[in-house]
Amino acid sequence: MKLIMEENACDFNRRSAAEIARFIQNKPDARICFATGETTKGIYAELAELYKQGEVDFSRVTAFVLDEYQGASRMNPASCLARLEAQLFGPVHLPEEHIHSFDSAAADLHHVCMEYENIIRSEGGIDLQILGIGTNGHIGFNEPGASFDSISRVVEVGQETIVARSEMFGSKELVPRTGVTMGIKTIMNSANIYLFAVGASKAQMLEKALFGPIVPDIPASVLQLHPSLTVIADKEAAAKLPGPILVQPE
Ligand code: F6R
Repeated sequence: MKLIMEENACDFNRRSAAEIARFIQNKPDARICFATGETTKGIYAELAELYKQGEVDFSRVTAFVLDEYQGASRMNPASCLARLEAQLFGPVHLPEEHIHSFDSAAADLHHVCMEYENIIRSEGGIDLQILGIGTNGHIGFNEPGASFDSISRVVEVGQETIVARSEMFGSKELVPRTGVTMGIKTIMNSANIYLFAVGASKAQMLEKALFGPIVPDIPASVLQLHPSLTVIADKEAAAKLPGPILVQPE
């Protein structure tokens, strides 16, 4: 595991974006799976800045969306796809035909999930998986108890996510109770994983996930088994990690 800690949220966003940009510079045709959320919002804004400055080129990148709410199409600004389009794909002019997402408005979501697995496979797998972490240890929509063998599937949206996204959907009641997500096995099959965590609310879970027992009750703990995991955190999120923390120079 490579662990990077930055002093504050600003440096965290800048460093995280720089690491993603470096990945793309080294592999311009990278297949990248993107999470959404508050953590990645700031990172994507920095990445869009790097694009504007001509530091990174997304024209050959293939994008996958990690998860989606049932019935939330790209027309719904709260959908994961719409947010990624607004925060990143649009600003960096990622070609439309290079974007893969769950058709979560379809009637047969099980079929959609099977198809998503097929698309990932036929594209050649994922080179870089970008993840945030829930305060209960979830990754994607894989909530505590999810099998480490799980692949893309229909899931219940967790309470933490319902609360966190209630403003975005207009109210708690309007957050879809069902979603689709890449599974833990799908995530673990990615060649590289970057896990991002920012803020004090993530400190306790980040420590448990990275240094505690590897158990399905803490989905993110499985990441300890990944051969190429990079964790980037700000000082607050890293506060409970056993020191001294490695601060890798850029
Ligand atoms: C979103 C996702 C979630 C978030 C996690 C952290 O696509 O997959 O697992 O990464 O809930 O969310 P934030 O960054 O809002 O704290």
